[in-house]
Amino acid sequence: MRDSYPKTHEEKLAQLQELRKQALEPNPEAVEKQHAKGKMTARERIEKLLDPGSFEELDTFVRHRTYAFEMDKNRPWGDAVVTGHGKIDGRDVFVFSQDFTVFGGSLGEVMAEKICKVMDMAAKVGAPVIGLNDSGGARIQEGVVSLGGYGDVFARNVRCSGVIPQISVIMGPCAGGAVYSPAMTDFIFMVKETSHMFITGPEVIKTVTGEEVGFEELGGAMTHSTKSGVAHFACDDEESCLEDVRYLLSFLPSNNMEMPPRVEPTDDPERMEPDLTTIVPDDPSKPYDMRDVIALIVDHGEFFEVHENFARNIVCGFARLDGHAVGIVGNQPAHLAGVLDIESSEKAARFVRTCDAFNIPLITFTDVPGFLPGTAQEWGGIIRRGAKLLYAFTEATVPKLTVVTRKAYGGAYDVMASKHMLADFNFAWPTAEIAVMGPEGAVNVIYRRDIATSPTPEERRAKLIDDYKAHFANPYAAAERGYIDDVIEPQQTRPKLIRALNMLQTKRVEQPKRKHGNIPL
Ligand code: HXC
Repeated sequence: MRDSYPKTHEEKLAQLQELRKQALEPNPEAVEKQHAKGKMTARERIEKLLDPGSFEELDTFVRHRTYAFEMDKNRPWGDAVVTGHGKIDGRDVFVFSQDFTVFGGSLGEVMAEKICKVMDMAAKVGAPVIGLNDSGGARIQEGVVSLGGYGDVFARNVRCSGVIPQISVIMGPCAGGAVYSPAMTDFIFMVKETSHMFITGPEVIKTVTGEEVGFEELGGAMTHSTKSGVAHFACDDEESCLEDVRYLLSFLPSNNMEMPPRVEPTDDPERMEPDLTTIVPDDPSKPYDMRDVIALIVDHGEFFEVHENFARNIVCGFARLDGHAVGIVGNQPAHLAGVLDIESSEKAARFVRTCDAFNIPLITFTDVPGFLPGTAQEWGGIIRRGAKLLYAFTEATVPKLTVVTRKAYGGAYDVMASKHMLADFNFAWPTAEIAVMGPEGAVNVIYRRDIATSPTPEERRAKLIDDYKAHFANPYAAAERGYIDDVIEPQQTRPKLIRALNMLQTKRVEQPKRKHGNIPL
């Protein structure tokens, strides 16, 4: 044995090369199994995600230190995660990619150490962390040490929150408490059919509640992107998912001390859009798609929607205006008339806070009839949960621009980045209706007796509604007070927003000293 250790430079180099080969060499059978499930391996995913040839691996020679359950007989190099740094569009990112072919990607002591190391480095240099998750959860053989490892990762998720972008990509199982690391990151991507997130799996659910549910229905990509709102993106396959991660990063700065990258603008900033003139129907009860409005205004009509399938009565996403990244929030008249409810308030509040944390200006398009009435909403906590959006818009110090395209009624007028919630520029189209409530509701309340005692109640009601529309269902009462900075022609919206946005590049806001605000969670 003594004779076999390397003595010369050549032998030492050869040893290194041999060890590295062993570390990088995948187990063909396990890879085959992974591919058969429609999944890439941990290293293939990294290759796909990063700029070609940019990956620098760390901790290739880390091995677990567990003896229990005869684990010492199998100590693969690198353990069950590949970690390191590389580039996306030429910018540094850190990445960890769990390797399901090694101990089912389960997290033990050394996997946690490897992940924590890249998170610490990312925080030190101010670069995003992308976690590619494909894991059976806490490594059972390592017991409580695995739980401690998760705890160490959780603590770093919290410390990095709002400092560097953290992105979770779920590409396999992610179960039990393990879901809480992704849950604390800024964005969660899932892949349809091959990724699943849940606290307790189908078997446990069946035992405890008697419910029968499959993996995909319980915690698949569509479930979490439509029902629970846990996932921001549901992708068709791993390749398109990793492409989307790259695209998302193009809108985000590397850390909270930087501005998001600006691209060289190639769309005319003065572009007028006559199609906007008639996009809002004359009949105020008719819907239209707010995404059509957004597409006509932003650079090249490109809008990257976040939470596309969840709480569709509000639209959130990223776009560019004259090359600047912006976050867009818009009520969606095409779904539930664009009403605000629990889910849409929470969806938008989270998005607004994410944009504010990462210096991304907010553009709000308002067409909201009010809050959704009903016991389900009241008992579900619309008071405290709707307050999140009010809080988030008000707390945000990034440039805030608002365009009221049609309705802005009641409390929802205030909430949707109104002047009072410290928005910088508030524009309204001539089609805007800014008032305490819509004409029908208002007339029924304030003229109830008048209508009841009229010899022709229906005619009287119609006349009063008409009067109300003439006096209150317009933008001018608000503009008279300066609550609206200008009533603009719809076709001018793009140039108006771009000029305001450029002017606001130097916006600075002093906040009162405090540990942190107490947003109603
Ligand atoms: C150790 C594990 C493991 C785990 C899987 N493996 N999960 N090893 N600890 N948690 C191993 C398997 O033994 C197997 O090893 C290999 O990984 C592949 O697993 P399979 O079961 O063959 O794969 P598949 O059929 O695809 O099923 C995947 C699975 C299943 C659904 C993830 O393995 C499973 O249910 N695992 C247990 C999940 C779980 O309950 N984890 C704990 C969650 S609680 P061999 O050698 O046979 O290839 C948790 C708490 C976190 O994580 C708390 C944080 C605070």
